[in-house]
Amino acid sequence: MSLLATLLGDAPSPADAARGSAPRLLAYLADAASAALLNSAAASLLPCEVRTGDIRSAVRDLARQRSPDLLLVDLSGVANPLAAMEALAGVCDPSVRVIAVGDSNDIGLYRDLRRIGVTDYLFKPLSRDLLEGALRAAAAGAAADEAAGRLGKLVAVVGARGGVGTTTVAVHLGCWLADGARGRTALVDLDLQNGTVALALNLRPEPALREAVEAPDRVDDVFMERAMVAASDRLSVLAAEEPVEDVIDIAPAAALSVLNRLQARHNYVVVDAGRAQGGAARAALEAASIVVLVGDASVAGLRDLVRLRAAIARRAGGGRLVTVLNRRGAPGELPAADLMRTLGEPPEHALPYRPVPLAVAAGVGEPAFRHCRRFREAMERLGADVAGQPAAQDGLFRRWVRR
Ligand SMILES: Nc1ncnc2c1ncn2[C@@H]1O[C@H](COP(=O)(O)OP(=O)(O)OP(=O)(O)O)[C@@H](O)[C@H]1O
Ligand SMILES: [Mg+2]
Repeated sequence: MSLLATLLGDAPSPADAARGSAPRLLAYLADAASAALLNSAAASLLPCEVRTGDIRSAVRDLARQRSPDLLLVDLSGVANPLAAMEALAGVCDPSVRVIAVGDSNDIGLYRDLRRIGVTDYLFKPLSRDLLEGALRAAAAGAAADEAAGRLGKLVAVVGARGGVGTTTVAVHLGCWLADGARGRTALVDLDLQNGTVALALNLRPEPALREAVEAPDRVDDVFMERAMVAASDRLSVLAAEEPVEDVIDIAPAAALSVLNRLQARHNYVVVDAGRAQGGAARAALEAASIVVLVGDASVAGLRDLVRLRAAIARRAGGGRLVTVLNRRGAPGELPAADLMRTLGEPPEHALPYRPVPLAVAAGVGEPAFRHCRRFREAMERLGADVAGQPAAQDGLFRRWVRR
């Protein structure tokens, strides 16, 4: 799909896909006998919907609808159950508890499934007692998760000045967290009029974001899902293109309520907070568990980087602050000795100045990972740091690198 097609408005939106309301338990079973048994075991325990099919049907359906609280999937006859589970993880909310059912009594498979986060593995023939026990345990686990209010990590990306690459960093970080760290990621552009996050990924924003921040009490999860546009299996974008002549003032509490709702459904919520000048962006900065401060090594860039860094360090929230010096090697940057003297301590990360590949990537509306190895490697280090993971491994970025 071309950038032009998106701009002209004839691009289909994945968010248009129908989305139903979530049952507590959604089950996919390949045979009628197991399905009947599950129906009777679940009847007195929790609301349940049983569909005919296996894990592949679950992957297909959950790419288009909201995740349930509990999911039971049939692995019988599936050649590579772990790969199928990985595909499921790509379309399913991180909070979902998954019970797998299969036809093989294999302790190795059981261990592998538990290792990747599957709550339980039951093998056929199933019994009512076995199913009831597994459902009770999974439901109790889900309730405990909810009570603990497990939330994804909020990452605010803020720029020392305009044009230093805040959006570039936010977009690439979002892509890395989704496709490199394999977390469900929401990428939010708080500039509802001139933001460029959606453009950078060749997406057309849904119009619902403004409504969401202007009337947050009318917003529920279904509404939020409609407002988001899918960039990949795990990456969703929340952005807008409101008329430039409007005056839009997002209330900080409204922004926080939207971000909080996203955190409940995503492992990472990355916010492009621009220069953090509005109340909403400031609130995001305060609430973030990690603030990524982007600057460059120009005279003005450094002045503002140092000032903003000190201001953020003084702020109440107290999340971790990570400084990124972007555009390293750009014409006009200060010599290294002056840079270090001004900064006091070295930035945690630096990204190289690569105008040509970044412009080419921006022109086609995709991240620059496959256009520039050095930029990608530096972004991988930043992404791994933000995710709290060891440095990236081979085989990541399949989506953006190997096309
Ligand atoms: N490391 C880099 N090397 C070369 N060009 C870069 C680099 N980082 C960003 N750019 C380019 O700089 C321009 C501005 O980047 P970007 O839009 O990310 O900045 P911004 O700080 O978000 O700007 P604004 O203040 O307008 O929101 C873009 O054309 C982008 O491709
Ligand atoms: Mg920007």
